[in-house]
Amino acid sequence: MCGIMGYAGRNNAIPVITHGLSNLEYRGYDSAGIAIFKDGQIMITKKAGRLADLVKAIGEPPAANLGIGHTRWATHGVPSDVNAHPHADCSGRIAIVHNGIIENYAALRKELILEGHDFISDTDTEVVAHLVEKFYADSLENAVRKALNYIEGSFALAVISQEEPDKIIAAKKDSPLIVGLGAGENYIASDIPAILGKTDKVYILDDYEFVVVTAEGVTITDFSGNLINKEIFNVTWDPISAEKAGYEHFMLKEIHEQPDAIRQTLRGKIKDGLVDFSEQGLDELFDDVKKIYMVACGTAYHAGLVGRLAIEKIARLPVETDIASEFRYRDVLWSPGDLMIVISQSGETADTLAVLREAQRNGVKVLAVTNVVGSSIAREADKVLYTYAGPEIAVASTKAYSTQLVIMYLLALYLAKKRKTYDQKTLAGLGKELLDMDVMTEKVLQEEEKIKRLAGKYQNVESTFFLGRGLDYAVAMEGALKLKEISYIHAEAYAAGELKHGPLALIDTGVPVLALISQDALAAKSMSNIKEVKARGAVVVAVCKENLQEVCQECDEQILLPDVNPLLAPIVSVIPLQMFAYYMAIFRGADVDKPRNLAKSVTVE
Ligand code: G6P
Repeated sequence: MCGIMGYAGRNNAIPVITHGLSNLEYRGYDSAGIAIFKDGQIMITKKAGRLADLVKAIGEPPAANLGIGHTRWATHGVPSDVNAHPHADCSGRIAIVHNGIIENYAALRKELILEGHDFISDTDTEVVAHLVEKFYADSLENAVRKALNYIEGSFALAVISQEEPDKIIAAKKDSPLIVGLGAGENYIASDIPAILGKTDKVYILDDYEFVVVTAEGVTITDFSGNLINKEIFNVTWDPISAEKAGYEHFMLKEIHEQPDAIRQTLRGKIKDGLVDFSEQGLDELFDDVKKIYMVACGTAYHAGLVGRLAIEKIARLPVETDIASEFRYRDVLWSPGDLMIVISQSGETADTLAVLREAQRNGVKVLAVTNVVGSSIAREADKVLYTYAGPEIAVASTKAYSTQLVIMYLLALYLAKKRKTYDQKTLAGLGKELLDMDVMTEKVLQEEEKIKRLAGKYQNVESTFFLGRGLDYAVAMEGALKLKEISYIHAEAYAAGELKHGPLALIDTGVPVLALISQDALAAKSMSNIKEVKARGAVVVAVCKENLQEVCQECDEQILLPDVNPLLAPIVSVIPLQMFAYYMAIFRGADVDKPRNLAKSVTVE
């Protein structure tokens, strides 16, 4: 993972770079570092810990107009000062930051050591600094080009040299990199939030592109040096969207942004109640589809589980949802009529991207559902449906999930229309209900105080269970994931009917069970399972629809949801679970936006 940021311009590079890195910390935050030129020499400052620790270590920033910085999520070597980037060559005249993995680093390192190079870190990245040193003859540009011939794996790299203090050299393969274009100043970064507020003009680099960045200009070539003319991409995200805007944490802000994110994602896609994807050019993609594979990781996978149930139910089309890291090593029985849908907030997740490529290699068309325009997945898919969640900064995904759900429902309704599984009036009714989901989520957000109180009550528990049937089970999985990732409390999601086949043994006095009851037809069945856990001492918090209150009255606590169509209920029922996780984490003093060991964009397998 990791975030990289570089600046060449007239302003002091250090605050520009550290501010950019602060918007990239979602990519990794176990150590950070920066390299600038001071008195004609490269000065590297790097620290294990958060970016704030680096800023403290730098103190009053020395004057510098060019530099590179990095925020790390450790892969090779523990998070430590010495393993933090930038890395330097033996002479300290070359500095480099890297996102990705150099797969053949061990062999290269061995060779370079035999040639007399001294290594000081445990990282894969350090080999690149020494390779560039080895090949440095006439220019940094040529040295980096030569080094690229030797490295295997994934990389977004930025390199500076004391001999040529006016330029940053950068290159990309399989890890994201953008170039921001200013007036008399230019930037490189792993992602757009790093340069929001500085410029809205960017180049989104493709694999095997090589850039020379100075204050005055940017030249893009392929790895062999052939000039590439790229289109400038205009960023439309509001700079404020990457700031906390008065909220204590990004996660809380993003939870509250859900009604608007849902509105933006629905905008223009439902006409007279019916889903219309003609603007997105999707009509032909679905013409001969007989089976859909949906593949994703983490929260996006949970959205795919809802998508499967929704599409099967109303479009009567077989759907298989799988985890990307598992799917890619299956021997799938591809058939004519297969369609792959990959879901990814970032559009950069390595396993999901690998599945996309595998499907395409097998002649299967891929539709991507992603939040990031210009991301690898968006660029490589045959077609894209964007979620309009805006930048999601907190590691725990919230508004990306609810907008992914919106896309899942749009797809289900669209396919139902295309396959004529329901009459137009019924579909238009559902379309109208989907359009109201922004207002419904606003209603659930009003339950915040109650949820906070419940979190206060249960903050010291060691273990929790989340139960549900059908769509409620899919949401239970997302609720349990939220709780474990940010509060570090053990949380298990179970299909309500499956509990008695083993995990019931873990239920004991005082164990909180969050029960989702939003499926009218399954509510009574779920209640039977709730009685089973209550009989064994569990305390049950029901997240239930208003109209099912009676059924849930034996639960210890109730969080009420508006009486929405059960098919669409996941959009509202997930919100109390997100808030519960948030407040549990707050009460336990956890770092909500940056949970331990995790990162938002997972670009390693
Ligand atoms: C990481 C993030 C999760 C996310 C998952 C998939 O684990 O922490 O929040 O759901 O990656 O990411 P993607 O960008 O592909 O949706």
